[in-house]
Amino acid sequence: MASPVIDLLLTRNSTPIRELKEPAPSNAEIATLIRIASRVPDHGRMEPWRFILYRGDTRERVGRMLADLAEKREGPLSDVRREKELTRFSRAPLVIAVVSTPRRNSRIPDWEMQLSGGAAAMNLVIAANAMGYGTNWITNWYAYDEEGRHLLGLAPHERIIGFVHIGTFDGVVPERPRPDASGLYADYSGPWEG
Ligand SMILES: Cc1cc2nc3c(=O)[nH]c(=O)nc-3n(C[C@H](O)[C@H](O)[C@H](O)COP(=O)(O)O)c2cc1C
Repeated sequence: MASPVIDLLLTRNSTPIRELKEPAPSNAEIATLIRIASRVPDHGRMEPWRFILYRGDTRERVGRMLADLAEKREGPLSDVRREKELTRFSRAPLVIAVVSTPRRNSRIPDWEMQLSGGAAAMNLVIAANAMGYGTNWITNWYAYDEEGRHLLGLAPHERIIGFVHIGTFDGVVPERPRPDASGLYADYSGPWEG
């Protein structure tokens, strides 16, 4: 079963964000990434996701807003902590927020719309890896802070599926322990017995 796709999927892993360097994907590559990210199973064709790009100077601007918000939440920050918040979005050359946008008044459960968003994020990650870029999908505290989401450009009803950090990485990431897949499946043996 020689297939570059299978090989990619069997070996893919995340790159530490601090290792993600310039160059970022070009505009044409980003357009391709979003085409692939939006080509996912989507019950009812709801298109319950959208994508926000953070790149260039925007990343520092967002960092300043997050540092101020962290200070508002926690009081004065240490220099180290402030620097951490300031650089949240400027460590990688490109961050793409995968945003869950549930469509209301629909027969499709929200759960399924969120799952479609997870598929969109994973497609984005795999497509960027296939283009040769390193990636890291995180959420972080500001994904779970209402004002944080607002500052990052989300509407009140929207949620963060992930901030996918993308950049160039030529090294090798040490392998981390992986699940023993052989123990993860079994033939159906009847109703759950506890
Ligand atoms: C929805 C979601 C949210 C995540 N949020 C974070 C996070 O906030 N911080 C973090 O260090 N890792 C987070 N992770 C995990 C990173 O993606 C992690 O680097 C990854 O699981 C490494 O596994 P991999 O090498 O198989 O990609 C998150 C993963 C998922 C799926």
